[in-house]
Amino acid sequence: MAGNNNLNSAKSARKDEFYTQLTDIEKELKHYRQHFRGKTVLCNCDDPFESNFFKYFVLNFNRLGLKKLLATCYTGSPIANRQLSLFDVLGTAEGTENRPYKAVVTTVYDKTGDGGVDMLDVAELFKTGENELTELEGDGDFRSPECLALLAEADIVVTNPPFSLFREYVSTLMEHEKSFIIIGSLNAVSYKEIFPLLMNNRIWLGYNNGDMAFTVPDDYEPRETRYWQDENGQKWRSMGNIAWFTNLDIKKRHEEMILVRRYSPDEYLKYVNYNAIEVTKASDIPCDYAGQMGVPITFMDKYNPDQFEIIGISRELVRTISEDVKKNGAYPQIGRFYLNIGETKYKKVYERLVIRNKHPETPREGKINAD
Ligand SMILES: C[S@@+](CC[C@H](N)C(=O)[O-])C[C@H]1O[C@@H](n2cnc3c(N)ncnc32)[C@H](O)[C@@H]1O
Repeated sequence: MAGNNNLNSAKSARKDEFYTQLTDIEKELKHYRQHFRGKTVLCNCDDPFESNFFKYFVLNFNRLGLKKLLATCYTGSPIANRQLSLFDVLGTAEGTENRPYKAVVTTVYDKTGDGGVDMLDVAELFKTGENELTELEGDGDFRSPECLALLAEADIVVTNPPFSLFREYVSTLMEHEKSFIIIGSLNAVSYKEIFPLLMNNRIWLGYNNGDMAFTVPDDYEPRETRYWQDENGQKWRSMGNIAWFTNLDIKKRHEEMILVRRYSPDEYLKYVNYNAIEVTKASDIPCDYAGQMGVPITFMDKYNPDQFEIIGISRELVRTISEDVKKNGAYPQIGRFYLNIGETKYKKVYERLVIRNKHPETPREGKINAD
């Protein structure tokens, strides 16, 4: 249908169609097993027959001890109905197969009697009505009333939401006070809607942050870098700045970062426009510095709230720029820290989080290193 094609291209243009691999989901979710027993899980950006999130939860339903699994997908997702669809399962009328639908799973067992549980059992359990697979009334938008009703029912939301709606997606989850494990861009750490949640220890990063590869729809344009097609013609994209965001307690956020460097004023320059030292790599945080330190946003991957306090982000901490920096600094920019790199030369530093060590070691000379 022409209308649908237009819709699909418009959606693809938004570049939201990145599909998560089962191995990446397994690698992350193995750290959260204790949270799932007796819980209702919602995957609300997930075609039940295409999403590996749905697959992970339905195939591990009994092992995790889930109470219920809910999944909804969005109108016209290009990947929808490519393998096993609502059409195959329910034999719905031709032309309706692109409709968004919801899956409600409360039981998973070897329905086909072939000795193991797989997606065919899942399809069979939908056909017999032991689980429910029904069309949604609306378009499956996570903000639609019927999807919000499912959200209200859920205990934990787990998915890779549309990158373009990440801010709104997180605020919807926070408003509804839901637990979640979701994928986003590491850059979201510095978003004005997301950073305060991290700073105030309401959300944090999961385990496997950094590189991740995703399958993308056929109509995605090839790219010079981080793009390939596999032997089956499947297109792939990878990104180096992917992060898992969660508000479920995990061991990792209680692990102390081992600090091996010591402070020296020659090695750690102070910013000219803020009273903190520049630490270019989180692994270089000195163990004996008690004052404020500027670190890259990748620090969030190592953040343990018992060890460090997050004070703010450069964007919000410096709202003015001196005449000297304006005149002599390259690309003067409000909201950035500057270092003096000789005479009247100033170097602009990337966005920094400002942190403080809650328990700094005593310096060798016995004098506290701070402001
Ligand atoms: C990054 S993809 C990930 C898909 C799937 N969760 C996965 O991990 O493989 C985000 C998905 O959200 C869907 N989507 C886009 N806008 C949406 C909305 N407003 N509500 C719900 N889903 C949406 C897209 O169609 C896309 O399939």
